[in-house]
Amino acid sequence: MRPAEPHPQTLESLHGEIWQRLADATADPAHAWRTPTLATAGPDHPDARIVILRAVDPHERTLVCFSDSRTHKVAGVRIQPVATWCFYDPVQRIQLRATGETRAHVNTAFTRAYWETLPHSSRRLYATVPRPGDRVLAPWEIPFGDHPAEQFAVLVTTVHALDWLRLGPEHHERAKFRWEDNSWEAHWACP
Ligand SMILES: Cc1cc2nc3c(=O)[nH]c(=O)nc-3n(C[C@H](O)[C@H](O)[C@H](O)COP(=O)(O)O)c2cc1C
Repeated sequence: MRPAEPHPQTLESLHGEIWQRLADATADPAHAWRTPTLATAGPDHPDARIVILRAVDPHERTLVCFSDSRTHKVAGVRIQPVATWCFYDPVQRIQLRATGETRAHVNTAFTRAYWETLPHSSRRLYATVPRPGDRVLAPWEIPFGDHPAEQFAVLVTTVHALDWLRLGPEHHERAKFRWEDNSWEAHWACP
């Protein structure tokens, strides 16, 4: 067995890199971490779906996405206010899971600030009369109403745990970060 070699990257620099990559993803539509899977607990079973990462604040530890306020994910976090975001970069073979308390904001000054940034074409998506998931006759026969802003939700996760994994050609690397007592506790983990 070979003696352990000093790792070329510190946990601190890896942590900074993770938040930088998340921030980069909000600015780059082609970024691999732009479209993570958001997992929530539902009323009767766990659920997962793709969302677009809209905003990141490393200091507040927040991840933000938009949704229709009538979706299952919004109902889910209202029942159990927690979510895990799963990011994957298929080229670098890096997975990141970010878990934390999650709140759905609807029809507040906070959501209106984001609403103002949306183009008309995006706003229209929140105006459907049927609720997301409702049965419709056909995709081109969906009626639209007049109050899309009231159906616009902003989901905010305040991250308290990060689980990072890279599958390398020769060995795999995993690191865990936990927000405890106002700072990040970090350690390497067996993949
Ligand atoms: C590329 C892509 C991006 C998506 N982005 C979002 C998003 O930002 N917010 C959202 O609510 N749904 C988004 N969706 C749709 C969700 O995956 C999901 O189908 C929908 O929100 C209903 O989910 P729910 O009923 O589990 O809440 C996206 C789907 C795809 C394929």
